[in-house]
Amino acid sequence: MRVLVLGAGGLVGRAVLRAAGGVRAPGAAVGATVHGEAAGHTWIGVDRAACDVTDPAARAAALAAHRPDAVLFCAGFTDVDAAASHPAAEAANVHAPAAWAREVETWFLSSNFVFSGPGPHGPAEAPRPESAYGRQKIAAEAAVLEAGGHVVRVGWVYGPGGRTFASTLEARLRAGQRVRAIHDLVVQPTHADDLAAALLALPRGVTHLVGRDETTWYGYALAIQAEIGRGTVEPVRAADLGLGPRPRDGRLAPADLPGCWSRNGLRAGTTDRDVVSDK
Ligand SMILES: NC(=O)c1ccc[n+]([C@@H]2O[C@H](COP(=O)([O-])OP(=O)(O)OC[C@H]3O[C@@H](n4cnc5c(N)ncnc54)[C@H](OP(=O)(O)O)[C@@H]3O)[C@@H](O)[C@H]2O)c1
Repeated sequence: MRVLVLGAGGLVGRAVLRAAGGVRAPGAAVGATVHGEAAGHTWIGVDRAACDVTDPAARAAALAAHRPDAVLFCAGFTDVDAAASHPAAEAANVHAPAAWAREVETWFLSSNFVFSGPGPHGPAEAPRPESAYGRQKIAAEAAVLEAGGHVVRVGWVYGPGGRTFASTLEARLRAGQRVRAIHDLVVQPTHADDLAAALLALPRGVTHLVGRDETTWYGYALAIQAEIGRGTVEPVRAADLGLGPRPRDGRLAPADLPGCWSRNGLRAGTTDRDVVSDK
């Protein structure tokens, strides 16, 4: 199959193209298409500059140019708190995946934010989103599934090159700053490369893909601080940070991807030291 990866400039999209052995044409500018071959499929990645997923003309042009049999929808408005009020959020997170799924078999990246209440949450559990972002993901999931597509829910993804909690933390700790990290929410850190390897199999239906180890943002921050050897980490409650609504227990099950949290510390690739220069 020819699989078109949308949002290929993001953390997950880039990891998928890396896993597929993606290469840009020599001298190609950012925004150019990336091609790779893996798992019996041809993977074609387009970033936002090459294809704005909310633009019907860009969609038609990409479908005509790349003739995909399937789409892996990694694009999204991923600032979960701003998604409540920013007009671009609904377009990118709901209307765009619905529109693409009506035209081509679509695998949609969704989120643990579709749940609330005690976890871990299984794929068959009825979603109960608390946030606008979670409600947008649920609306998109329903439209994609109705069109015959598939849903992959993920959470707490980190890895080279992304704007993640880990990379922001690292910059501040390297500067010797004191950072505050939530100690009362459990997380399942998931390495983008592990997620990408699993995505290459294009799991059908509704699938959960997260790492099997659990910690808190505070524990996660402490491990990064230990790697860097600078700065300090202060534990805080989620309520103290004034964040918008998010699942108190957003753990997903099954948690089948490799654990990256262990007594051995964080897996390589967590910090920007290992960033792959494919931007
Ligand atoms: N990372 C996580 O922990 C996590 C957790 C749960 C769910 N997810 C889901 O997984 C998917 C991928 O997330 P990610 O971590 O890779 O996020 P990311 O790094 O923020 O990447 C999202 C990409 O989508 C692009 N994009 C935004 N609007 C677009 C548009 N209108 N047209 C084309 N591209 C557009 C962004 O471009 P710009 O950078 O130019 O805006 C960015 O490159 C998202 O659906 C996200 O909701 C991720």
